[in-house]
Amino acid sequence: MSMGKRRNSKNNSFITSIAFILIISSVLFSLIYFSENDTRNLKSIGYTNEEISFIRENKIPIKVIEKYKHIDVLKDIVTNKNYDRKNIDKYLSLYNENRDINIIIYMANNNISYDYSDKLVLLITNKYFILNNLDRYMKYNSDDIDNIISMVNSNRDYEYYTNTKKSDVSKGILLLVNKYYYLDEDYSYDELVEIESNYSNNKNNMLSKEAYEAFKKLVDDASKEGLNIRSNYAYRTYSYQEGVYNEKKDSDGVSYADSISARPGYSEHQTGLALDVGVLDKYADVKFQYTKEYDWMKDNSYKYGFILRYPLGKENITGYNFESWHYRYVGVDAAKIIYDNNLTFEEYYAYYVDNK
Ligand code: DAL
Ligand code: ZN
Repeated sequence: MSMGKRRNSKNNSFITSIAFILIISSVLFSLIYFSENDTRNLKSIGYTNEEISFIRENKIPIKVIEKYKHIDVLKDIVTNKNYDRKNIDKYLSLYNENRDINIIIYMANNNISYDYSDKLVLLITNKYFILNNLDRYMKYNSDDIDNIISMVNSNRDYEYYTNTKKSDVSKGILLLVNKYYYLDEDYSYDELVEIESNYSNNKNNMLSKEAYEAFKKLVDDASKEGLNIRSNYAYRTYSYQEGVYNEKKDSDGVSYADSISARPGYSEHQTGLALDVGVLDKYADVKFQYTKEYDWMKDNSYKYGFILRYPLGKENITGYNFESWHYRYVGVDAAKIIYDNNLTFEEYYAYYVDNK
């Protein structure tokens, strides 16, 4: 009995070993066999030995590669900094020799389903392109790509005072108030301080503390050059703005009122970060543009964090006629970018503030 058992168990282990060897060798065989098969297929498409090694080393799914004809820039695609292995099939389906690899990689990585076209390429490569706005860019009727981007980023594909949103006050000094972004009736930005008489043409003229400190420095430096810049009107409450707007509307009609005055809640004077400037004791508004003070403000105010908020030639974006006297505090970093790139605050906000 015991002898028989021992023989039996010897037999079992012999059989197990044979089975093991058979399994291992069949796995090895199939690996070698498939690999030769793949190599043959890749060669038949036109891949060189060197390219095939590259494909293997980079674990590029061979089954995907085999679906397409030879792609001589495969290496460029795979070594592109935005290459994502899981999108390889999409890259190859989008690729042809007339197409830019960076664009097809961007399209695939971001699930862009528009056809590859000159317009799409120009949009994607534009400095101020915002992916979230792509559908609106594609819909916007213009041949000028810069214009499409500027207009859509500034919401100008919508009528004024439509698609309005509450202004995102968490953006601090970069909050945007315009014909699409409004403030609640009781909103005011941080601590308002009264502008002292040697900086203001009016009493009860208030500005937020940070903007005021910057404005004082601006006025002091300008005065060293013989210029007398003063604040005429800065902070305005919701109800004060209501009065200003209604007066214009009643005398000149809605359309004219809208071109020069914000509706209540939509004025950045309510932020405490905007001010209308003039020359000492001269309450100039439209005439301010002919003064030395304006020439200086235009090219120097950004150094103190202020921007000309409603520039000439940008009326279609800002929604207001040119206002040589209206400046907005945004801080020195933003003001420099806006000045250097000739942007409106609408364009800056869309790309640098909201697009995060
Ligand atoms: N005049 C500017 C646009 C305002 O009313 O706020
Ligand atoms: Zn103003």
